[in-house]
Amino acid sequence: MKMWNQRLLTACLLLMLWTGACTTSVGEPDIPSALDPQGPAAANIANLWWLLFWLGTAVFVIVTALLLFIVFTHRRPGEMMAPDLRAPEHRTWVWWGGVIFPAIILSLTLFFTLRSHIALAYPPTPPALTIEVIGHMWWWEVRYPDHEVTTANEIYIPAGQPVNFRLTTNDVIHSFWVPELNGKIDMIPGKTNSLWLQAAEPGIYRGLCAEFCGLQHAKMQYLVIAVPPNAFAQWVEQQRQPAPAPTDETTRLGQQIFLGSACVYCHAIRGTNASGQLGPDLTHIASRRTLGAGILPNNRGTLGGWTINSQHIKPGNRMPPMNLSGAELQALLDYLATLQ
Ligand code: CUA
Repeated sequence: MKMWNQRLLTACLLLMLWTGACTTSVGEPDIPSALDPQGPAAANIANLWWLLFWLGTAVFVIVTALLLFIVFTHRRPGEMMAPDLRAPEHRTWVWWGGVIFPAIILSLTLFFTLRSHIALAYPPTPPALTIEVIGHMWWWEVRYPDHEVTTANEIYIPAGQPVNFRLTTNDVIHSFWVPELNGKIDMIPGKTNSLWLQAAEPGIYRGLCAEFCGLQHAKMQYLVIAVPPNAFAQWVEQQRQPAPAPTDETTRLGQQIFLGSACVYCHAIRGTNASGQLGPDLTHIASRRTLGAGILPNNRGTLGGWTINSQHIKPGNRMPPMNLSGAELQALLDYLATLQ
């Protein structure tokens, strides 16, 4: 039985190592690491992590060195009794090693942790922009309330500025985490939590759901795209526009197929009658980099596959398979491609 337990443990450890190397995301930005900070909040967290790491390492080295010292210099063969800790020469060790030294180390960690908590509560300057993110099983609704923009799974922010996030969920608990920009925070039903993100430089930062929320938890990702402030203003202006009307026969047919099918119950396209709220807003779907909440690159092939049967790609998601002929699908894809 003992042997069997050891084998089980070894198998579990190997499995953890193996799955630890897995990823389900599109390869655009690298796998994000909290130890590769790209903004002030994440830098604060990474510094705290390294401080705790080196303090822990120092304690480990000192304790191990003492232990080895005692083992190799104070061995008395045949002596079985433990030393009397009440003896005066041992008391000093007990006081220093058991009380004073741990108290100093724990006070230091408490001090630096509280200092980080306070720093993370307040951005360097008051945020000018607020973004609302609503968690859904298994995608992210993104709203810019001051600009009347709604999008999904892709969050544009101006680089170099703090941005305030208001976070909640439409169903179960999710957790909002952009490891390179800040710590994570839960999205809880009936409650709005807030967090600020600031990217020091323009770039693409991967975000993920950090709370198990069902079958497709691992495929609930998003991108935070930090752009220079003027490019951000242009992006907002473009996203505010309603969808353009179709200009040729195929795209007109594609729009008719969209508006005449079950698509409209779940998706909105501003500028048309489609105003469903259950799935992502598709007004500017063609401008997004990914599909299926950060798991596929957005192109005609993946969009076609997703439209016909996303259950093969992300089983259990809320989008049912569509029954379209080849020609209907091509017309629909032509129309969706105009939604830049
Ligand atoms: Cu949403 Cu895990």
